[in-house]
Amino acid sequence: MYYPDELVEEVRMKNDIVDVISGYVRLQKKGANHFGLCPFHNEKSPSFSVSGGKQMYYCFGCGAGGNVFTFIMNYENYTFGEAVKMLADRAGVNLPEVEYSEEMRKKEGHRSRLLEVNKEAAKYFYYQLRSKQGEAGYRYLAGRALSKETMQKFGLGFANVSGSDLVQYLRSKGYADELIQEAGLAGFNEKYGMHDKFWNRVMFPIQDINHRVIGFGGRVMGDGKPKYLNSPETMIFDKSRNLYGLNFARTARQNHVILCEGYMDVIAMHQAGFGQAVASLGTSFTSGQANLLKRYAKEVLLAYDSDGAGVKAALRAIGILKETGLGGKVINMEPYKDPDEFIKNLGTEAFQERLAQAENSFFFEIRMMEREYDLKDPESKTAFHREIARKLCCFSEEVERENYVQAVAERYHIGADNLRKLVVSYAAQTGLVSPVVRPKSGLASKKNTPEENQKKSQRLLITWITEEPGIYQKIAKYITPEDFTEELYRKVADRLFEGLSRGEYNPAAIISMFADEEEQREAAALFNTKLTELSTKQEREKALHDIVYTVKKNSYEYYSKRIGADVNAVNQVIAGKKALEELSKTHISLDE
Ligand code: CTP
Ligand code: MN
Repeated sequence: MYYPDELVEEVRMKNDIVDVISGYVRLQKKGANHFGLCPFHNEKSPSFSVSGGKQMYYCFGCGAGGNVFTFIMNYENYTFGEAVKMLADRAGVNLPEVEYSEEMRKKEGHRSRLLEVNKEAAKYFYYQLRSKQGEAGYRYLAGRALSKETMQKFGLGFANVSGSDLVQYLRSKGYADELIQEAGLAGFNEKYGMHDKFWNRVMFPIQDINHRVIGFGGRVMGDGKPKYLNSPETMIFDKSRNLYGLNFARTARQNHVILCEGYMDVIAMHQAGFGQAVASLGTSFTSGQANLLKRYAKEVLLAYDSDGAGVKAALRAIGILKETGLGGKVINMEPYKDPDEFIKNLGTEAFQERLAQAENSFFFEIRMMEREYDLKDPESKTAFHREIARKLCCFSEEVERENYVQAVAERYHIGADNLRKLVVSYAAQTGLVSPVVRPKSGLASKKNTPEENQKKSQRLLITWITEEPGIYQKIAKYITPEDFTEELYRKVADRLFEGLSRGEYNPAAIISMFADEEEQREAAALFNTKLTELSTKQEREKALHDIVYTVKKNSYEYYSKRIGADVNAVNQVIAGKKALEELSKTHISLDE
C-alpha cells in the first residue's frame, strides 16, 4: 500500500458508508441498520445491510461484506489503491502524488502491471492505425462505415505486418518478456523467439467498466481465418465477467441494455446513437455477465444474428436471463443478418421501431419451437402443444402462468381449457412447478462441522464486542487474541482489543488492514455474525458466558494438541486451564 495508514483512515472517515452506498443501492432504514437488495448476488428480498455505527456493510445472503473501501473495490472492480483514490477525491482529501519508481512498480502488484502493459499495447496499436503502416487498417474500418470519432471512442488500433515490433516496443518501455507473454501479447518458440501474437489485424481493445484495457480482439481485414483472434484469459481478463461496450453502456441511462453478438455490432450501434449496446467477448453469454447487467438494467433486449446459430445463442441467453431475474426480449433483425448490417441498410429510426416491437422472450421461444413441428400432422401438433404446456410449467406464479396460458391459447388456436388441463397434468407428473431457484449462498453451504462451529463462536464473540464495546472490559481477563485459532480472526482481535484497551472503538478501520478483497470480506463477516435476539438480561448473561467459555475451551484444546510443536503452547494451556476453572464458577454480569 502506498498511502500511510493515517491518510487511508482519514479518507475512510470522511466517506460515510451509508452515504456512499446509497449512491449505488436503494437503502431503507430498519432499526440501527439500513437494508437493501444486495448488488453482489441475485435476490428478491433485501438481506444486504449497511451499518452506520460500524461503518460496514454485510450481506446475510451471500456473505459479501467489508468497509467502504471493500464496497468500492467490489462494485467498481478497483484495486485497493484505486478505491482510496476515488474516495479521497469524493471527500476532497489530497493524496500525495505517487512516483512510479522501479521499486514502486514492483510493489504495485501483478494486476496493475498487466493493466499497464495492455494499456501500453493499446496505445501502440492506436498510433499504428493512424500512421503510414496502418493505412490498410484505417481503410478497412472506414470501409465499414466507422467514423473517425467512433474509431477514436473505441480506441481502435492496428497490428502491422512486422513480426515482433510490439514486443520490441514494450521491452523498450521496460516490460519483461514473461509479463508480455502472460498478457497474451506475444508467444515464444525456438524458431522465432518472442513474436507478436497479433499480426496484420485491426485491433479492438476490450475495456472493463472503468475504461481500463484488459484484453484485445483482432480482426482480419477480409475473409482470412480465424476471423477474430482474442487475448487469452488472464488475471485481469475474465471473459465471463466483462462485456464489450459496458464501459459506455453503464451510463446510457436506459432501463434496458441491448445485447449483441459481435464487437462490430456494438460499435455500429453506438455510432447510430444506441449507447446501451454491449456484447459478450467471443464466448457465449454467461450468468456472471447477466449479474453484471442486472446492476444497470431491468431488461435485456437481444440483438443476436438472425441465422440458426444466432437463434440458438438467443435461446440459451434467455434461459440465463430468466435465472438471473432479468426480463428478456428479442429484436427481430430480418431481413438482415445482424445489427451492424441492419443499421447500415435501414438506419437508426427503423431500428428504433424494431426495439419497440421486440418480442417477449417466451413467445420467441414458442415460435422457434414451432418450426420443429408439422402442424398439419395431428401427432406432431399434439407434441407441440405438450411442449408448450411443459414450458408453461416454468412459471411458478399462478397469475403469470394463467396469463400466458390465455395468451398462448389465443395465439395458437388451442382451447384455453384444454391447454390448462395439459399444464396441470404435466405439472402433476413433474411435481409442480419448477422449483424456486435460490441464490447460492456462501453461508448456507457451510456444513456444521466442529471446526465451523468453533469458528462460529469466535465470530459471535467478536460481533458481540463490536456491538457492545462495553463488554470488552468484562471478558478481557479471560480472552486474549491468542484464543482465536483462525489466523485472520487473531489479527482482527489483536487490533480490536488493542484499541479497546485504550478506549478506542473503530472496527471499520481494521478492515483496511487487509488489502485483499477476500480477506476483507471474511473480516467483515466477523463483525456481522447474527446474534440471536435475547430479551432478558439473564438470558444474555448466560449466552455471553457460554460463548466465552466455548472460545476458551476451543483454544485450550487447540494448544493442548500443539504442545511440543509450538513454544507458546504450554503457556497457553496453563493459562487456559486456569481461566476455564475460574469461568466455570464465575458469573459474567452485564451490569454497568
Ligand atoms: N468471434 C471470435 N472468433 C471468431 C469469430 C467470432 O471470437 N473466429 C466472436 C467475436 O467476439 C465477434 C463475435 O464472436 O465479435 C461475433 O462474431 P461475428 O458475428 O462473426 O463477428 P462480427 O463482430 O459481427 O464481425 P463482422 O461484422 O466483422 O463479421
Ligand atoms: Mn457482423
